[in-house]
Amino acid sequence: KPRLYSGMQPSADSLQIGNYIGALMQWRDLQEAYDAYFSVVDLHSLTQPYDPAELREKTRRTAAQYIAAGIEPSKSTLYVQSHVPAHPELAWILSTITGYGEAGRMTQFKDKAQRFGADATSVGLFTYPVLMAADILLYQTDIVPVGDDQKQHVELTRDLAERFNSRFGETFKVPMPVIQRDTARIFDLQNPVAKMSKSAESEAGVLWLLDEPAKNAKKIMRAVTDSEGSVRYDRESKPGVSNLLVIYAALTGRQIPSIEDEYAGRGYGDFKKGLAEVVVNEFGPVRQRALDLLDDPAELDRVLAVNAGKAEAIANRTLADVYDKVGLLRRA
Ligand code: TYM
Repeated sequence: KPRLYSGMQPSADSLQIGNYIGALMQWRDLQEAYDAYFSVVDLHSLTQPYDPAELREKTRRTAAQYIAAGIEPSKSTLYVQSHVPAHPELAWILSTITGYGEAGRMTQFKDKAQRFGADATSVGLFTYPVLMAADILLYQTDIVPVGDDQKQHVELTRDLAERFNSRFGETFKVPMPVIQRDTARIFDLQNPVAKMSKSAESEAGVLWLLDEPAKNAKKIMRAVTDSEGSVRYDRESKPGVSNLLVIYAALTGRQIPSIEDEYAGRGYGDFKKGLAEVVVNEFGPVRQRALDLLDDPAELDRVLAVNAGKAEAIANRTLADVYDKVGLLRRA
C-alpha cells in the first residue's frame, strides 16, 4: 500500500470543526487504501505559549479525538511525535540544508512571529517547518492530506527531499500534498474571511468537537451572515452563508446546490437550525467516544506506546540511512 502521513498539534483541549472537516474526515476515508501514519505533534506545540501540565493532557485528548473520529489504531499507526526521537534528529540534519531565507519565507512563520512579537518568537518557531518535513520524510511518504494552510510546508518538504536526494543520493520519497479543494479552509463563524483556528481571538467563531452540543448549536444560530436573506453559495459577497453551506455539505456528503434548493425561500433561521442539527448529530457520538476513551488514560497510553513502536521501526531505518549518507561515523 502507498504510505500516508499527517498530524495535528495538541494546542487546545478540543479540536475545532476545521480540523475535523479539513483533516480528520479525509484521514478516516483514506486510512483504508493507505498505510497511514497519524501523529500528535507535541514537539511542534512547544513553539507557542503553553503550560506543561496542560500540554500532556491536550496530547491525550487529541489522540482520543483521532480515535473517536474513526481513526483505527489497529489499522493506522497513531502515535505521539515525541515518542519517536528520530523526528528531531532528522530535523537537525534537514536544517543544515535549509536556507535561512527559505525558512523566513514561510507565511505561517511570518504571521505567528508578528502575532507573538520579537521576544516570544523562538528559533523553534522558525525551524518548525523543518521538523514537519522530518515527520513526513522519515516514513517515505507518498501523500500528505492537509488543509490549505499547510500547503507551503509540504512544498518545502518536497524541496528538501529533492535537494537531499540530489546532494547525497536517492534517500527520500518526494511526497505529494493532498488538499480537498472545497473543504480545505473552514472559516471563523464570526469573521468568515479568517480561517477558523484553535487560537482564534473570539470563542464565538469556533465550533469545538468536545463542546456541549447546545453550545455549538447556539454558536451556529449566531453565526454572521448577510442581509440578503437567501441561502446561496457566493464566496465573494456571502462568505458567512457560503462557509455554513460548505460545513453542511461536508458533514452530510450532500452537494451544495441540493442544500440551496432545500432552503430556497426559507430564512437563515431555518437554515441555521438545520445545520445545528447536522453538527450536533455528527459531533455528539464523536464527543461521547472521546470522553469514554479519556476515562481510561492508561489504556490510551498503552495503545499510543504500541503504535510508537511501529512508527519507530520505520523511522529509525530512514534515519540510519541518512546518517550514513551525510557521512556520520557509525557507532561501533
Ligand atoms: P494544525 O494542528 O494547525 O492543523 C491540523 C490539520 O487541520 C487543518 N486545518 C484546517 N482545515 C480546514 N479549515 C480550517 N479552518 C483548518 N484549521 C486547521 C490543517 O490544515 C491541518 O491539516 N503543521 C501542522 C501539523 C503537522 C503536520 C506534520 C501535518 C506537523 N507535522 C506532518 C502533516 C504532516 C499543523 O500545525 O496543523
